[in-house]
Amino acid sequence: MHLKGENLSFGYKKDHFILKDVDISLYSGEVLGLIGDSGSGKSTLCKILSGYENNYSGTVSLDGNKIPSGIYNPVQLIFQHPEKAVNPKWKMEAILNEGHVVSQDILDSFGIKKNWLNRWPNELSGGELQRFALARALGLETKFLIADEITTMVDAITQAQIWESILNMVEELNIGVLVVSHDKNLINKLCHDVLYLSDINTVNY
Ligand SMILES: Nc1ncnc2c1ncn2[C@@H]1O[C@H](COP(=O)(O)OP(=O)(O)OP(=O)(O)O)[C@@H](O)[C@H]1O
Ligand SMILES: [Mg+2]
Repeated sequence: MHLKGENLSFGYKKDHFILKDVDISLYSGEVLGLIGDSGSGKSTLCKILSGYENNYSGTVSLDGNKIPSGIYNPVQLIFQHPEKAVNPKWKMEAILNEGHVVSQDILDSFGIKKNWLNRWPNELSGGELQRFALARALGLETKFLIADEITTMVDAITQAQIWESILNMVEELNIGVLVVSHDKNLINKLCHDVLYLSDINTVNY
């Protein structure tokens, strides 16, 4: 499959573009890095690609078709701060299985412990919570994963464990991944190829 963003332009304020004429392309099974300065629009681009921001011009398509809203989005975004992506009033088991029942295999591969399921989100660390967000997002209908600084909050060993689980799973499921990070070493380690946002964005600051 082919996820394509073409001529993407967007500004939070009128006449103030953050992104202008951005083209980006990602294929199934590809692990692509995206690097850019803080505030340059990486998270904004991630939101556009995964359907969280609709007020843009240009097109986002999957194999040439627009992605319909209101259905499970095959392009899943994982945020830097997983606590923002969960309902604090739900226990982890309910959060995990909201869209579909997540298999024991996936829980095991992310090292999710049984006793975490009965906890509230604020009773888990950022890294533990992020494992839930990933397990939940890697459903069978997921074709692309947009990973926006997803391991910035954890130590190096946890970061390596989480990425090993992700890479195993995306290979098995033939999912394409966009890895957004400030960490060039991490990107070089994980990715087949790397893009610099400044090279694909024609905004003049
Ligand atoms: N909801 C919003 N309303 C107004 N401006 C916003 C909003 N979200 C982001 N911005 C602004 O848009 C610009 C791009 O933000 P974005 O979060 O996409 O950058 P980023 O490249 O992800 O940065 P970082 O590396 O710090 O995460 C920034 O100047 C930011 O202040
Ligand atoms: Mg960001």
